[in-house]
Amino acid sequence: MKALILAGGKGTRLRPITYSLAKQLVPVANKPVIEYGIDAIVNAGIKEIGIIVIEDNSPIEESCGDGSRWGAKFTYIVQPDPLGLAHAVVTAKPFLGDDDFIMYLGDNLIKSSLGDLIAEFQEYRPAATVLLTPVPDPTQFGVAEMEGDQVVRLEEKPKEPKSNLALVGVYLFDKVIHDVIAQLKPSARGEYEITEAIQGLIDRKMTVRSHIVTGWWKDTGTVEAMLDANRLILEDIEPSQLGTVEDSQIDGRVSIAKGAQITNSKVRGPAIIGEGCIITNSYIGPFSAIDRNTIITDSEIEHSIVLQDCEIIGATRMDGCLIGRGAKVKQGVQKPSVLRLVLGDSSEVTLP
Ligand code: TTP
Repeated sequence: MKALILAGGKGTRLRPITYSLAKQLVPVANKPVIEYGIDAIVNAGIKEIGIIVIEDNSPIEESCGDGSRWGAKFTYIVQPDPLGLAHAVVTAKPFLGDDDFIMYLGDNLIKSSLGDLIAEFQEYRPAATVLLTPVPDPTQFGVAEMEGDQVVRLEEKPKEPKSNLALVGVYLFDKVIHDVIAQLKPSARGEYEITEAIQGLIDRKMTVRSHIVTGWWKDTGTVEAMLDANRLILEDIEPSQLGTVEDSQIDGRVSIAKGAQITNSKVRGPAIIGEGCIITNSYIGPFSAIDRNTIITDSEIEHSIVLQDCEIIGATRMDGCLIGRGAKVKQGVQKPSVLRLVLGDSSEVTLP
């Protein structure tokens, strides 16, 4: 079995961050989202992994490398136009050949192991297995209609959902999916949809099995979902203290990387402070992930993701923020006190 990780796409819902950084590289608890997927796939014993990217020499390739870090082999597959998940499969056909494969959306996080799922697929040999999870509002998702553990119909964002079981971004396929995809037409939104391809398997009387996710699942495509994923990962963080802590109070599970300096501050976990961060006279509250070499002075932050090399000075209180690399947030010193903003396209600021 091979794996195909989808890390192309446009990431429009996560602008402006995605103008300069692929969403799969946005860190959740200071680790790029895509690495959680890679970990899960490698832990399930799969070593041949294709990664869909939008360009040659992509930053994703630069960040993840050739796979040797995981004892795996990565093949980067360029899909310049993100024409849909099924189109990504067509693009990857030379890599996939006739092998079974697990397809994993590179911006998804799932807290359950993939090993059982793969073993089940190999035992029953359906044409496909989909992962499902109960959701409060199924109208926003691809929804499965079930008979026992077999999927009998899939509907994308249904107005009147037949169940509360949404498709999670992990799928298992055997080679027959390629025949169905070859006959797909673009959907109303102009994409080759994987839900339509799976419906095509059902229409051809092939077996599509399902597997209900027991742990949580998150699609990190929006800021709220990214912050939520950060919260869920931080809930399991191992405390560690490799940096320097002076005249400060550290409460709960806090991971402080080497070279970080925390002075005259309070950090309330779960939280993670990256290498080389300098935190002074500040409060870092629960569910905060501060990436490397960020400076925080005279500020209060909680439930936020701050990427590397930022400077935050005199900001009280930041909550629910996603701050891109090298951003500066500073309290003005001159009167009158005004807002002075330099914002990228599609930025969002909420004033108190
Ligand atoms: P989506 O989140 O559905 O699409 P997107 O990344 O373009 O984001 P947005 O809707 O905010 O514009 O994609 C799910 C995952 O699949 C994500 O990791 C990107 C990847 N993908 C591809 O690799 N190729 C594609 O053609 C598409 C549509 C997505």
